[in-house]
Amino acid sequence: MAKIEIKLSDIPEGKSVTFKWRGKPLFIRHRTADEIKQEQAVAVASLRDPQHDNDRVKNPEWLVVLGVCTHLGCVPIANAGDFGGYYCPCHGSHYDASGRIRKGPAPLNLEVPHYEFPNEGLLVVG
Ligand code: FES
Repeated sequence: MAKIEIKLSDIPEGKSVTFKWRGKPLFIRHRTADEIKQEQAVAVASLRDPQHDNDRVKNPEWLVVLGVCTHLGCVPIANAGDFGGYYCPCHGSHYDASGRIRKGPAPLNLEVPHYEFPNEGLLVVG
């Protein structure tokens, strides 16, 4: 199974960078302290696909999700939409900075692939 290695120092805080992995876009987001605080405070019961931020990230600074809208598969745009995370322009789905669906037709949160941090500064997805 193809893995991708990403050097985390290449991604500045506040940025979401798109990689290609197994033929799909992969978003790696270096979250700010404010984003982390905001996503951890969201009331899980209010969510369409209820998941706490802690269950979606291994390290709060890093969000790792597939860049595939769970509605019909378009690629969402980073740092856009009403919830500061991602916005899918195809039919207007808004995701937060945890990749959770917050508004629009998509039924599920952005998918979190298998990944690990084998050592400081390195992320391996796959
Ligand atoms: Fe993203 Fe429809 S494919 S909202």
